[in-house]
Amino acid sequence: MQKSSSKESEFDNVYNRSQTHDLKWRKAGVEAYLSQEVREDMIPMWIADMDFGCMQGIVEAVKKRAEHGIYGYCGVGTDFYEAIEFWNRTRYQWNIEAAWATALPSVVSGVNIAIRAFTESGDGVIVQTPVYDPFMQIISMTKRTVVINQLKRTEEHYEMDFEGLEELVKNPSNKMLILCSPHNPVGRVWKKEELTRLADLCIRNHVMIVTDEIHSDIVYGEHRHVPMLSLDESYAKQFIHLSSPGKTFNIPGLKMAYSLIPNPEMRKAFQEMQLAMSLDIRNTFGIEGISAAYSEEGAQWREELIHYLSDNVTAVEKFLSEHMPKIRMNTPEGTFLCWLDFSGYGMSDEELMKKINLGAGIVCIPGSWFGPGGEHFIRLNIGCPREMLMTALQRINDEMEG
Ligand SMILES: Cc1ncc(COP(=O)(O)O)c(C=O)c1O
Repeated sequence: MQKSSSKESEFDNVYNRSQTHDLKWRKAGVEAYLSQEVREDMIPMWIADMDFGCMQGIVEAVKKRAEHGIYGYCGVGTDFYEAIEFWNRTRYQWNIEAAWATALPSVVSGVNIAIRAFTESGDGVIVQTPVYDPFMQIISMTKRTVVINQLKRTEEHYEMDFEGLEELVKNPSNKMLILCSPHNPVGRVWKKEELTRLADLCIRNHVMIVTDEIHSDIVYGEHRHVPMLSLDESYAKQFIHLSSPGKTFNIPGLKMAYSLIPNPEMRKAFQEMQLAMSLDIRNTFGIEGISAAYSEEGAQWREELIHYLSDNVTAVEKFLSEHMPKIRMNTPEGTFLCWLDFSGYGMSDEELMKKINLGAGIVCIPGSWFGPGGEHFIRLNIGCPREMLMTALQRINDEMEG
């Protein structure tokens, strides 16, 4: 890894990623992905990986494995299960059983497998927009129906629209709900009461919940993530948990995620579909990565990361209130994503994206990608050194206010 300098915090180090194959920093890749021209000197703050160096223990584990020199087909061993068990027990006081876990190449592949295994073509799958857009893409691509229950926005934060949900779950053609917990892009960390209300509603109406908890470790202040399946035995029997160390430890390229499915029949159906889709893929380096990440050292590293990210959130809030008060932001309770409301500028989404992506040269994802409720927003990824964040904010300010 190339660092520019060693600063006070390891998270202040600026790395040159443009010479790697990392999607976020490759101009041609970004343009193809966003279908939009971007500047040579862009600062990419779009896709959800971070510009921080990986924890040393992960780098060492991957290096050690690389030095072996043989990279054959691999399987997961007890270290994989022990790592997942350790992490869920120590972080969430959730005692899982090794048998519940299935290794996956990514969380999104788990969503795809679950949709195909437990719903039929034409069935409705509920999502709460604005939400991580691949959910909607997969539902459509698998010929299921995207059923939207838009989140409600209050002064303080977003909430689930339970009245809307009650109507939708009563419709027998709606078979599944995909929960994003914590919620990308609005940054909510759902409370126990909200999760219980949602789960009870779904159980009463035979709607399965697939809960994507990939952002669970990145929560701020007094907010606490609660794994949905840990709340009640009946939820554990009927729902599916998906997660990965990819976001927390900045290793999504190692392609290692997992599902937790306590119900043996459901787990069998899930694993059969996984095989049918040839997604029983395991990555030699991913296995090393997850074992190194979900450890005592990983817990300590995560603490330091949260401090740094939390200061980044504060820096964004301060900058906006001092320089761009027209932009509204609910303080994120979790995730390294800021959800910025630009409606105060009265621009079309197209004009806004042109100004931000091309004018300011800050590559962001337009809010409209996240479905209804995302119009006039942009999602800004603040998982980067503070210096980069402040330069990006200044460039947005110069473009919008200059
Ligand atoms: C909610 C959510 N789920 C899944 C993913 C992707 O995870 P994976 O790369 O493991 O599929 C992301 C990445 O941004 C995400 O925000």
